[in-house]
Amino acid sequence: MLPADHQYLTYIKKAVRHRARQAGYKRIDPPIFEERSLFERSIGSHTDIVEKELFSVGRKGDPESSDYALRPEFTAGICRSYIEQGMQELPQPVEFYAIGPCFRYDRPQKGRYRQFHQFDFEVIGLSDPSIDAQLIHVLIKIFDDLKILDRLTLQINNIGAPADRITYVQALKDYFTGKERNLPEQDRERLKHNPLRLFDSKEEDTQILLKLAPTLEQFIGEDSNKYHSTLLEYLQELGISFTKNPGLVRGLDYYNQTVFEFWDSSTGAQNAVGGGGRLDFLIEQLGGKSTPAVGFAVGMERVMWHMQEAGVVAPNKDQVDVFVAQLGPEAKKKCLNLVSQLRDLGVHTVGALGEASLKSQMRLADRFQARYTLLLGQLEVKEGTVILRDMAAGKQKQIPFDKAIPEVLKLIGKANLDVYSITDKFGEFADPGEG
Ligand code: HAM
Repeated sequence: MLPADHQYLTYIKKAVRHRARQAGYKRIDPPIFEERSLFERSIGSHTDIVEKELFSVGRKGDPESSDYALRPEFTAGICRSYIEQGMQELPQPVEFYAIGPCFRYDRPQKGRYRQFHQFDFEVIGLSDPSIDAQLIHVLIKIFDDLKILDRLTLQINNIGAPADRITYVQALKDYFTGKERNLPEQDRERLKHNPLRLFDSKEEDTQILLKLAPTLEQFIGEDSNKYHSTLLEYLQELGISFTKNPGLVRGLDYYNQTVFEFWDSSTGAQNAVGGGGRLDFLIEQLGGKSTPAVGFAVGMERVMWHMQEAGVVAPNKDQVDVFVAQLGPEAKKKCLNLVSQLRDLGVHTVGALGEASLKSQMRLADRFQARYTLLLGQLEVKEGTVILRDMAAGKQKQIPFDKAIPEVLKLIGKANLDVYSITDKFGEFADPGEG
């Protein structure tokens, strides 16, 4: 992430934090690496993420071991933490969000990196279509803030209860009995271990066979259908448009009921910007009490790409307001304090404190795209003055040294000063000696 990328990344994080706070989500940071078995038990041993894309971390003294893995996502770590920290005791649902790097050993290509960033939202402790609708709404707001909402379509489906899926998987296996020979090697493996993954296949032969295969829709129970239609009603109520996609199953095992993804409207499925769904059984599966949950994650590099494609210029707050140039030991000494005071007052100030000639310092000021330059040579020190140059206008004037700061502040304008101050009110610390 280079400085130019951070312009976007910071802006995305800001939008995420803002919308999260408005909706009562609390920030959580699960560890960057966890026991490998956690990911196996949650995401699923036969998913691409676990089977092919986990970065293993060995134990000390045994680098060949693979007891730990870098997190490929946040959901597993957040649910583990919910259980271990006894968060069932908190008022439910508990709402979390996380932002940070994740790792997947994929073949690097556009939009697919081995280290990438996600922001992730989870609502744990309640199952109701209104929760799903509100969660999706928060994400819609974020995409809207980032000016990319109109580039994306919400694809949505309901994959039913785990029991529905078991019956369906059996039906799918039955359908493929005798047809295995027509499947490429990788898809034959998928059929054996995780037939639902066949839908992720890019192979033409597989896709042709799948066209006539039974569909999951036919196996979904009454309750799930009701849940889904209520969710769709709520989405409509919130003015959210969506595309019903019966083929959407998602690449992780922990889902039930609602699943959704945001696709690039112009190119379709290939690189989803984000996705999520309900995971009502994951917490129990990881050893907690039966607790429903729903969540999503979004790839921040993909969001950045969309913002850039859409011509969104993230605000750049790194501009240089003042460049301070000096010549001679006396001038340099005076500049140290000048630079420090300007910075404290909220003026972005860069000082050339090397020994370069004034001419090359001015060239540097140009390259920094500084708005103003304060120039202090030996003569100015003797006279108690300083030269103030407006770089864009190419005009300069000599002013008394002690007028330099007020003059610069006036030119930049109070509203543009970058003053960092903690304005929040601190809570009162309870005295541990009392009560
Ligand atoms: P996921 O669909 O595996 O879901 O990943 C979410 C998003 O992360 C993707 O849509 C994509 O934008 C981004 N992403 C994934 N892999 C890469 C990569 N190699 N390079 C760049 N971006 C990538 C999950 O991770 C679930 N934990 C979502 C969730 C949360 N479900 C419930 N709660």
